[in-house]
Amino acid sequence: MLTLVTGAAGFIGSLLVERLLADRRAVVGIDCFRDYYDPAAKRNNIAASLRDPLFTLLEADLSGDFEPALQGCIPHGERVTVYHLAAQPGVRRSWGANFGDYVRDNVTATQKLLEWASESGCVTRFVNASSSSVYGASPQTPLSEAGSLPAPVSPYGVTKLAAEHLVGLYSGRSGIPSVSFRFFTVYGPRQRPDMAFHRFILAVLRGEPVQVLDDGRQTRDFTFVSDVVEGLYRAGDSPVCGVYNLGGGNRVTLLEAVGEIENATGAKAILSFAPAQPGDARDTLADTTRLERDLGWKPGVPLQEGIRRETEWIRAAYGL
Ligand code: NAD
Ligand code: UGA
Repeated sequence: MLTLVTGAAGFIGSLLVERLLADRRAVVGIDCFRDYYDPAAKRNNIAASLRDPLFTLLEADLSGDFEPALQGCIPHGERVTVYHLAAQPGVRRSWGANFGDYVRDNVTATQKLLEWASESGCVTRFVNASSSSVYGASPQTPLSEAGSLPAPVSPYGVTKLAAEHLVGLYSGRSGIPSVSFRFFTVYGPRQRPDMAFHRFILAVLRGEPVQVLDDGRQTRDFTFVSDVVEGLYRAGDSPVCGVYNLGGGNRVTLLEAVGEIENATGAKAILSFAPAQPGDARDTLADTTRLERDLGWKPGVPLQEGIRRETEWIRAAYGL
């Protein structure tokens, strides 16, 4: 049994790879080291895993001709579980000329991977990373898979919803059991440098202004990355199919989160407010009843502890 992880050098992907290797699973990772943020950070994420003989890294672009190289990494007759995490993330940047990157990495790449999965005959399970951004500005929270109509308010959300639909469509055609997880704002060690907590903690530690978009009273259901990895890990071995919310149960306003960052750093935040950005949902909160029922999963890391761990990591990563 082999596990394929796309986006293996990214924030969430690299931690999933470590979790699988810790369980002595053979893993093939794919990443093309996009420069959306410093590829050196991604090399760093994957460095320890590269020393493990059970790990193979394929540097390939899923929107290009990756299929022959990938097939070469899979021994004949091997069964493969796919975790598809490769994507162009970032909600606010997805407008204008950048949209092409989102279509390429979230739609075209997903469709090509699904074609390969259907044709190769070796894939027995497909787990896809989707996003709370598919819900958009739904007026009612908590957001539930059956009760909340997806209506993205960012081009990024549109591409993630398209990817979800492709996963469902190909699953129906190929018979490969598939699941899409809608992650809610993930944070923790290795968090992408464009995301709020990474920027806020760094700014507070450096004594620089924290740029709060909008009035800071918007809410997010922040999810610690080990809870995401645990949900993904369990889904690899379970029969769950369809769409599942994966949210941390840590819904707070941004200003409350800044308060936790002040506690964790022992420093005062200097707040600077900027206008709301197009594409941002005002509030998110996951109803995770389905996931708890079907996978026995529950979020385990409260916000205070998660921010403390991310702060520790940022201190070490930046030498602060
Ligand atoms: P990330 O940018 O750290 O990781 C994604 C990785 O995919 C990167 O290393 C990138 O180089 C790689 N990649 C992109 N396009 C590729 C392609 N065409 N071929 C091969 N590799 C490619 O992002 P992340 O925050 O770890 O997100 C992982 C997944 O989770 C994404 O699908 C994202 O949409 C989803 N997600 C993330 C969050 C969050 O809060 N971080 C929330 C919801 C959903
Ligand atoms: C995050 C990820 O970046 C997306 O890839 C993912 O799909 C999405 O979660 C999701 O849950 O689906 P976002 O919620 O915007 O998107 O996460 P952050 O970038 O951490 O932003 C959280 C909040 O902080 C937002 O309200 C944003 O407007 C605000 N923010 C962000 C600031 O006030 N200042 C900043 O410098 C950055």
